[in-house]
Amino acid sequence: MNAITMPSSRAYKILDHTYDVIVVGAGGSGLRAALGMGASGFSTACITKVFPTRSHTVAAQGGIGAALGNMGEDDWRWHMYDTVKGSDWLGDQDAIEYMCREAIPAIYELERYGVPFSRTEDGLIYQRPFGGHMTEYGKEPAVRACAAADRTGHAILHTLYQQSLKHGTEFFVEYFVLDLIVDHEGICRGVVAWNLEDGSMHRFRAQRVVIATGGYGRAYLSCTSAHTCTGDGTGMVLRAGLPVQDMEFVQFHPTGIFPAGCLITEGARGEGGYLTNRDGERFMERYAPTAKDLASRDVVSRSMTLEINAGRGCGPAKDYIMLHLEHLGSDLLVERLPGISETARVFAGVDVTKDPIPVLPTVHYNMGGIPTNIYAEVLRPAHDNPDAVIPGLMAVGEAACVSVHGANRLGTNSLLDLVVFGRAAAHRVSKTIRPGAVQSPLPPKAGEASLDRFDHARYAKGGTRVAELRLAMQRSMQSHAAVFRDASSLTEGVEKMREIWTGMADMSVKDRSLIWNSDLMEALELSNLISNAMTTMVGAEARSESRGAHAHDDYPDRDDQTWMKHTLAWCDKSGKVKLDYRPVKMRTLTNEVSVFPPKKRVY
Ligand code: FUM
Repeated sequence: MNAITMPSSRAYKILDHTYDVIVVGAGGSGLRAALGMGASGFSTACITKVFPTRSHTVAAQGGIGAALGNMGEDDWRWHMYDTVKGSDWLGDQDAIEYMCREAIPAIYELERYGVPFSRTEDGLIYQRPFGGHMTEYGKEPAVRACAAADRTGHAILHTLYQQSLKHGTEFFVEYFVLDLIVDHEGICRGVVAWNLEDGSMHRFRAQRVVIATGGYGRAYLSCTSAHTCTGDGTGMVLRAGLPVQDMEFVQFHPTGIFPAGCLITEGARGEGGYLTNRDGERFMERYAPTAKDLASRDVVSRSMTLEINAGRGCGPAKDYIMLHLEHLGSDLLVERLPGISETARVFAGVDVTKDPIPVLPTVHYNMGGIPTNIYAEVLRPAHDNPDAVIPGLMAVGEAACVSVHGANRLGTNSLLDLVVFGRAAAHRVSKTIRPGAVQSPLPPKAGEASLDRFDHARYAKGGTRVAELRLAMQRSMQSHAAVFRDASSLTEGVEKMREIWTGMADMSVKDRSLIWNSDLMEALELSNLISNAMTTMVGAEARSESRGAHAHDDYPDRDDQTWMKHTLAWCDKSGKVKLDYRPVKMRTLTNEVSVFPPKKRVY
């Protein structure tokens, strides 16, 4: 950003706080972690830029996966196999085993906390089919997604918020965390945050910092993510000189409303909905003869794109696909899919009892993020010790990469990841630190560099508005890191991203105030988004194979020999990205299941 004269950081009013644990972000993973820490007696602060129940988890619709077997035979090992296969063999199998096994107690715990799940006639938790979830290692669709109508995220988020209040979490609402505080030994000691309401600056010191800031969907032009999904945690980690993992894997959800982008849950197809092209053909039968419309998301999104590219899209410009629910009948739609019925009416003008909904694959989820182990501790990549961690730093949820989703996440495994690893983080903290343990003072000048960075943004006097730079980034991501990619488009994408990064030096922020300054806030969010976007584009350009959500036209096959490995990406202040790789973990934690070796992925 602009080199300009600015007032000293010391002009800011700085308030210091000390807690045992700081959780940054109040979505499902942050709240599940926070309530567990509180329940074990740790003083816990949750710092969040939006009111907790407005966090993006609230938008999750169709369900949370667990092999409860309430509505048909099921087994967590089948869930594990589906998740490994869904990940296109990039997921770490020990972490996937942990998630699928722990799913069952984690759901019953949510039920006890008070999540109002829909019910079967026998009073059990209602479950529905979802894409890529099968029985008996791939035979037939499984009925595994535990649902609260089509508002499952809303039900879970509100319950977790209530539980975290009950367990004494202290909330710092509408505070924007600027940076981590890391000492000279590489130990994470806290964070620096800006209070948007009164403009004060805060240093939070803690024994553990848990990043739970969600994904960076807003690096794209069209996404199902909230406007708040700006990759703040991953941005902070990159600024601290640490790497992120597998950023090239960005999930497109098959059914975003055309053209608004709002999510229509996969649960709609789980309840019997189906897709057609302009000829009225149920084309998924050609691409995935067994699972059909319930194949995994990368497969359905690619199939839809191929139909559109072949001129078989619907509408005057042949640029969307139709999702049919009208045959399901209004009773089922009212009981099981009320939320999306309303969304379709408001955003597409469609009465789902009568007409199909126009849909298009839309950016939905980031498989990549901050590399962690299954205890939510952030990994410190070292070839001589792959299990080394960054002391004091943890990450959970979409901001993290455990990696349970590998190259493609199965629907319902996101809510599951949030609660299983939020819970794991709390368990780990209770095993590794003591409530109220004395903490050494923060390093001298802790947080000053962050305030300098803040000032650079606040006083940026260039000629380009934040919104222009953001739009340029979003357009480049949308066209160069899309459902299908190829070498020349990715090379061009990297060049464009470099130009935009350079253009950041000409940023203009007009509003200099410290209170409710959305211009400045958006500038800071953009500085997070851009490093997420840059590592995504560069990681994608380097990966010369197709795997999961990374479909490379010049390398259409998966190449396990060369590429069954995770990408690690560092991004320096000038936007230069360094890549390294680490092997996929092909091991299990218990002898209750064995490793699933790679094989061809068909649905
Ligand atoms: O389609 C959906 O309801 C989304 C679920 C998910 O992303 O897990």
